[in-house]
Amino acid sequence: MNSPYNVAVFVGSLRKESLNLKVAKALIALAPESLKLTIVPIGELPLYSEDLEAELPASVSTFRDAVRGVDALLFVTPEYNRSLPGVLKNAIDVGSRPYGKSIWDKKPGAVVSASPSPMGGFGANHHLRQCMVFLNVPVMQQPEAYIGGVNKLLDADAGFVPATRTFFEQYLQAFSAWIERTAVR
Ligand code: FNR
Repeated sequence: MNSPYNVAVFVGSLRKESLNLKVAKALIALAPESLKLTIVPIGELPLYSEDLEAELPASVSTFRDAVRGVDALLFVTPEYNRSLPGVLKNAIDVGSRPYGKSIWDKKPGAVVSASPSPMGGFGANHHLRQCMVFLNVPVMQQPEAYIGGVNKLLDADAGFVPATRTFFEQYLQAFSAWIERTAVR
């Protein structure tokens, strides 16, 4: 078997009991052999300003180096006020500069949004996709993952309830095939 694709997972919530973090961890546990999912932390990054480029904080270079080395990107995010949380947008901005040296360029991506509300973070999901258009990240179109009522879809062991588990098994298989088709190795 070929070596698995290394996938960086970005969680758009810093909350200790974050439902999205639980979703990310359940996805890691569910990943097929073809994917190795690893969470890349974003909470220590400074708020982005181009002034940082003159004397780069270690957290920024560590983050950029970690993402440069991966094959693909998986975003797992809540919705804040019908958009993506600032902490995740900040990480995207940090990775996008200096101009011409974006860490996101051409890496295949996928977006999961999850919320206790029925709409499943649709607004966050699509605002994130809008950023990815400019950043030249080919984002998997189908299946889409707007996970509404997510608080009811995780079991006591922090795994997915059966129907959600089946959905995400198929989702990750589709993502693996998407990476295979679009990755520039
Ligand atoms: C929210 N929440 C929320 N939910 C939603 O479906 N659409 C929204 O626009 C918002 N807006 C929003 C703004 C802010 C500032 C907060 C703190 C929360 C509720 C949100 O979905 C809920 O708190 C989730 O549990 C947050 O995700 P984590 O932290 O559990 O992963």
